[in-house]
Amino acid sequence: MVEKTIEKRSVKTTTKNTPKFIWRRKHLLGLQDLSREELIHILDTAKGFKGISKRSVKKAPTLRGKVVVNLFFEDSTRTRNSFTLAASRLSADVLEFTAKTSSVSKGETLRDTARNLEAMGIDIVVIRHSAGGAPHLLTRCIDACIINAGDGYHEHPTQGLLDIFSIRELRPDLSGLKVAIVGDIAHSRVARSNIWGLHKLGAEVYLVAPPTLMPSGIEKMPVTPCYNFDEIIGQMDVLNMLRVQFERIGSSVFPSVLEYSRLFGLTVERMKRAKKDVIVMHPGPLNRGLEIESEVADGPNSTILQQVSNGVAVRMAVLFLVNQAVVLEKKK
Ligand code: CP
Repeated sequence: MVEKTIEKRSVKTTTKNTPKFIWRRKHLLGLQDLSREELIHILDTAKGFKGISKRSVKKAPTLRGKVVVNLFFEDSTRTRNSFTLAASRLSADVLEFTAKTSSVSKGETLRDTARNLEAMGIDIVVIRHSAGGAPHLLTRCIDACIINAGDGYHEHPTQGLLDIFSIRELRPDLSGLKVAIVGDIAHSRVARSNIWGLHKLGAEVYLVAPPTLMPSGIEKMPVTPCYNFDEIIGQMDVLNMLRVQFERIGSSVFPSVLEYSRLFGLTVERMKRAKKDVIVMHPGPLNRGLEIESEVADGPNSTILQQVSNGVAVRMAVLFLVNQAVVLEKKK
């Protein structure tokens, strides 16, 4: 029953008064290319799927007979496991591919890897890769649906979607909402997906970082840059704290971790300057004591674990929609 409702809502209009919307994309590569309507459609579809996660039998037959491959060339806890769970809840078979234990270590290329997996009969590829554009390349190599689970510094669309979904649960209208994305923005695909998604839904996005961690090309983004966290913290409705990505930072970009934490960390002391009901977010994994103090990460304003829970519903929605696009294409 839930599934039927979702299918109806996702594929076409449910009432006479709302405009007809049909999802047509068989790949999800980023949020920059999506329209406001497409974003809202994914988020509304995810809302329906959240209900399944609360049932005692957390299964729907939506992707029965389909094969989803998790093609991960970088480590992951949240994204990988929630895609696995999302695909299983939709009754798909899931192949877990890890570059470190595959023939990639013998020199096999991404294209050959994907084509060999395709030869086994796969329908959807979820790819994480250190190279920006790797998911886009796959769309030209194989016929399966491609979902970007994080490519280099480029985008991490399902993280952006689950962040926005989590904000909307607490503040349904994003227009005029002030969201600060704080920290290592230069190396963050999460930041880029959030920027585009939030902007399209009407939020005002502030980027807060030391100059060495601001991205190049910031002037082309719909954001307000800020180099002093304390100047703006009191006006913000949402604080999305980013992990300092030490594995991607070649040379030192700030004098010491102590100084970084003092100027840009979300400490208990700094929280006193924030709005009482400010939403605290972090995509994970956390550097506790660096970008966020444990008392704040585990405190009453934190939505960090809700973000993780919502990730499963958002990924169910994305898997469902890309497959639906293929079904509709075949019916043409
Ligand atoms: N937020 C996120 O992408 O976490 P993982 O690296 O654990 O998937």
